[in-house]
Order: sequence, then C-alpha cells, then structure tokens
Amino acid sequence: MKTMYSKLPNIGTTIFTVMSNLAKEHNAINLSQGFPDYPISPVLVDLVTKAMQDGYNQYAPMTGLPELRNALATKMEKLYQSTINPDSEITITPGGTYAIYTAFTTILQAGDEAIVLEPAYDSYIPNIETNGAKAICIPLRYPDYSVDWELVKASISHKTKAIIINSPHNPTGYIWSKDDMLKLDEITRDTSIYVISDEVYEHITLDGRAHESVLKYPSLFARSFVIYSFGKVFHTTGWKMGYCVAPADLMKEFRKIHQFLSFTCNTPMQVALAQFLTHESEYLSLPAFFERKRNLFLDLLSDLPFTIHQKAQGSYFQLASYEKINHMPDKDFAIWLTKEHGVATIPVSAFNHDGKDDKLIRFCFAKQDETLELACQRLGKLI
Ligand SMILES: Cc1ncc(COP(=O)(O)O)c(C=O)c1O
Repeated sequence: MKTMYSKLPNIGTTIFTVMSNLAKEHNAINLSQGFPDYPISPVLVDLVTKAMQDGYNQYAPMTGLPELRNALATKMEKLYQSTINPDSEITITPGGTYAIYTAFTTILQAGDEAIVLEPAYDSYIPNIETNGAKAICIPLRYPDYSVDWELVKASISHKTKAIIINSPHNPTGYIWSKDDMLKLDEITRDTSIYVISDEVYEHITLDGRAHESVLKYPSLFARSFVIYSFGKVFHTTGWKMGYCVAPADLMKEFRKIHQFLSFTCNTPMQVALAQFLTHESEYLSLPAFFERKRNLFLDLLSDLPFTIHQKAQGSYFQLASYEKINHMPDKDFAIWLTKEHGVATIPVSAFNHDGKDDKLIRFCFAKQDETLELACQRLGKLI
C-alpha cells in the first residue's frame, strides 16, 4: 500500500493536547492549556437556552447573524473609534483559530512567504505551510519579547505576502505599543503585504495598558484581517466562536473561502452573544479581573524558586524561568513537574519552530483562586 502523503510531515500532536492528557493521567492541576476552570455567566447560559427553545436551531446566514454583526460594529466604534460596516466588513466564524486559517488561505499562494514573530501561537506556521507557503520566523527579543523592527524589515522580500502579529501576546504577555503599530504601518505601507492581527486577548490588558488594535490605525487596517474570539471575552473557549474584521474588498475574498469551509456557525450562540454584548461591564471588567488573578499568582509564586523576568502585561499567561531548580530542557522540565509535582504547564520552546529553549514555562492564571493556591502549595515542595 502507498504511504499517505503528509502536508505537514513535521507536525505531531500539539503540546497543549499532550500536556492536558498528561495532567489528566497524573491527576495534576492543569495550568497548561489556556482555558478558565470557573463557570461562565448564568445570564449567557439562559440566553443560549432561550434561543434554542425559541427555535433558533437552523443555519445562520453565511456572514453571521445581522444582530450580532451590528452589536460588534457598535462595540468597535466605542472601543476603537473605528467605523466598521457590519454587512461588508465583519464575518462570524467558528473560533479565532479558524478565522486565522481562513485569512492565511485568502492571502497566500504556493511559494509566498509569511512572517511570524516567535514565540508564536502554534497554528500559524502549519496554516502557512498547508497553503504551500513558507514561514519566515523572526525571534522576539528575549527576555522582554519586544519586536526587533530592523530584523523584521530585513526579512521582507518580494515574496512576502503576509505578517501575523499578536497583541496581547500568547505566550509572553507582551503588549504592543503605539510605536510598534506605527512601525508596522510604516514598513508594510506601499508593499503587497497583508497583516493578520490576532487580537483575541483584546480585553486582557493589565496595569492600565491600552490595547493598540489595528482598528485604531486606518491606513494599517486597509490591508489587515483582524481576528477576535468570544472564547476569550466571555470565558467560553469551548464554544469556538469568533469573528474576523477586514475592509470590504479583503472580506469579499475571505468569505469566498469561508463559505466552502464551514459556511456558517452556531446559530443559538450567535443569538445569545448579540444580546449579551449589551452587557458592557462583562468585558470592560476583564482587566481588573485578570490583574487581580495575575497579582495573586505572582504573590504565590514569589515564595517559590521560579524567576519572573517580566510580569505579564496582558493575556492570561505568565512566563517563569526555572533556572534555580534545574537545567533540564523545558519540555522535560514541564513533564517532570506534571509527573512529580502534580502541576501541568507549557514549555515555551513549543512556540518556537526550531525548539529554541530559553528554559521557560508558561502558566495559565485564568483559574479559580483555589486552583492557583493549590497549584502553588504543591510547588512548595520544590523549596
Ligand atoms: C494567540 C491566540 N490566537 C487564537 C486563539 C484561538 O481562539 P479560538 O479558541 O477562538 O479559536 C488562541 C487560543 O488560545 C490564542 O491563544
């Protein structure tokens, strides 16, 4: 029999699945994969239930329910002073990851190049390669993970068709400054480079920082696909609901791909989300909610032999160095910590295509206080 040809010969099971399975197997506290362990709003649950009972159980329009797109346009106008046409510039998708894949597929042809800043969310490079294109990987500056713009500039060639950016950043918690956005605008202006801006953590900005959305920069937005996820906003990662915002000419092409991938997504969730978006405090309270969690977690960690090079500025992840504990490769360390100390984390090398290992692990602090406390109690044995 012929061997199955692989489009992604170097890809195995993602580290998130590996660590979550290992956590289950060893009854470890799971601070690895990024999902909350606390309940979602009962109001939202009631709204979905009611939508199902009211008969919203058949296909929604391909672009998403108009009520939801309208609510999102209103939200973006308020937050980013950006006038988005809900009919031609927003598409509701089954999650942010799907929207990223669809944007890459819209842009890329075989032989093109796409720039990825590493460490990076693990779907970006496989998405680029599935489209027959090449990922050009640029390291962010260790240990603060700021962008080396000279390196980005030097990596642009006539083949560059896309750059994907992510702020607030997973896994480092870095937040892009206004200056970063202006630099991106400057170096991509008058090129044929499209920007995919992964803004799924838009509301998780800490210590009074602002989220610099591409939507705030009209000339940049003119060549961008901006990606959001309801999973991160309403603590509903298991719903896999998100959306893409792009200028009408770009969105027209995005929708051609979308209509033959999933065509549409979950109708009762869309009905509920459209109504729930009027509860502004749900997302406006997220910075304070997560800042308290990060501070609690850092406080608990301060008694343990981890080193924090930089407090998370945004997202719900905190990186920590274990150099005072041992010098294992980070993957081995994460596995050892799960098996021997009952706490699962993610090794940061998993976010680098070449496995570059700065001996760091990523903790997710989107957990109940008791979970964070129990995890740190277990880690107390490291002292
Ligand atoms: C940086 C980043 N982008 C996209 C996503 C995906 O969002 P979704 O669950 O809506 O696909 C995640 C989820 O962890 C993420 O961390």
